[in-house]
Amino acid sequence: MAVIPSLQRDLFQTVKRAFLRALAVPGAMLFLAAVCVAYARFVEPHWLRVKRVSLSPAPTVRLIHVSDIHFAGDARHLERVTRVINRLDADMVCFTGDLIEEAVFLDGALQILSEFNKPLYGVPGNHDRWALRSFERVREAFRGTGGEWMTDNPVMVPSERVALLTLACAGERTPRGYKRILLEHHPDAARQTHGETFDLILAGHTHGGQVRIPFVHRQVLPFDLEEFDKGLSRTPAGPLYVNPGIGTFYLNMRFRCRPEITLIEL
Ligand SMILES: [Fe+2]
Repeated sequence: MAVIPSLQRDLFQTVKRAFLRALAVPGAMLFLAAVCVAYARFVEPHWLRVKRVSLSPAPTVRLIHVSDIHFAGDARHLERVTRVINRLDADMVCFTGDLIEEAVFLDGALQILSEFNKPLYGVPGNHDRWALRSFERVREAFRGTGGEWMTDNPVMVPSERVALLTLACAGERTPRGYKRILLEHHPDAARQTHGETFDLILAGHTHGGQVRIPFVHRQVLPFDLEEFDKGLSRTPAGPLYVNPGIGTFYLNMRFRCRPEITLIEL
């Protein structure tokens, strides 16, 4: 008579094993997703990368390119960026926009940037234009480092024989032997130079996709920028480097797209 309970026990064990087996794969996937989200939220946004790019066998200029800081009060992160930049051997720092999203964070951002030990040159991004009525204080801070804030004004740097330009002044004549560098926030600038060519075009804006989920990340990039998502591209107007940015926008996360300081030899 003990046969029936024993059969029931076997059946229960069989069902239990099948149930656990069925849960194993989705459970492991859920765990992996949770680990990836935690990594994207707490590790990668602060995990700075210094990328070196050489565009000339005999460089005359070494510049640091940073972009899309999106400072929102994370002073430790921006101070770390500043320390890394100050340790690098370079002639200047070029910033391609989106310092802040809200005016209330401007003072904090400028206070940290004023610690740069190299001249800082920069152009506004779309968020800077939306957040600020005037760039006067930004200009003052950039000049304080020995650099300049550019909107439509070309800047000649005789010590490095470099001409820094924006689209608004791309046709400006530059002294013989000067390297022409275009600073713009939007990478699409490389398609809008009206025949002008440059030794280097620097841009940001894309954040490199910021959260690069395999096979999906291209869909979260700003529209029509797929060919210039991040890194170096050759364009008819000259070599274009798109920096994936220092900060984050919308989602405070980065995945497979670390914040980057780029050291470019030209
Ligand atoms: Fe941005």
